[in-house]
Amino acid sequence: MSDSKNKIKISPSILSADFFCLESSIEAVKETEWLHLDVMDGHFVPNITFGPCVIEAIRSKSDHVFDTHLMISEPEKYAVEFAEAGSDIITFHVEAVEDVASVIDSVKETGTNVGLSIKPGTSFEAVTDFLPMIDLLLIMTVEPGFSGQSFMHEVVPKIKKAREAVDEYDDIDISVDGGISPTTAPEVVENGANVLVSGSSVFEGDIENNLRELRESVE
Ligand code: DX5
Ligand code: ZN
Repeated sequence: MSDSKNKIKISPSILSADFFCLESSIEAVKETEWLHLDVMDGHFVPNITFGPCVIEAIRSKSDHVFDTHLMISEPEKYAVEFAEAGSDIITFHVEAVEDVASVIDSVKETGTNVGLSIKPGTSFEAVTDFLPMIDLLLIMTVEPGFSGQSFMHEVVPKIKKAREAVDEYDDIDISVDGGISPTTAPEVVENGANVLVSGSSVFEGDIENNLRELRESVE
């Protein structure tokens, strides 16, 4: 990726965008570094979103870093397909597969960066063995599945712990996802997060103003 790690990056989640006008929604956030693409299968999480064909369709319309978040069971079956659809980073859940290392390897073989995600109830230790292999750690600050939920403050110590641990691998981004807004962003950044995934706080209402407020909250 061309952007430097550890810089604060905003990754608007299109889950909260207007799916009828996806092109203009994405255009409205063209200033942000990343774009967050939530893939849900109705099995790992109780919601269904979209498949690789949607990522492929929007790839030519956007210069964002495509930050694909797979909330699916058996990521080993689909991760490569989502990578080849145009993702720049494929993040899957450590809870979703037994052989985590082989999924990481298969995505890396496509030349795509790899992230691991952990749910609020999963300890940081679940990913420590894989830190030398990954580019991003995505810490869920809500239960995965839906946008618009309240930020879970109890996850903050895990963000801090992750930052302390990844500092020895200076090329790992720490992303937070769920309930991120100008109110909650300062706390997660202070504790070490550098990628802010945000859905409803960006896309509901005046997008330009929302982005400015979010950016200013962490400056
Ligand atoms: C939830 C998704 C999030 C979601 C965040 O499972 O992974 O990316 O879009 O939405 P907000 O920011 O509204 O909590
Ligand atoms: Zn997400």
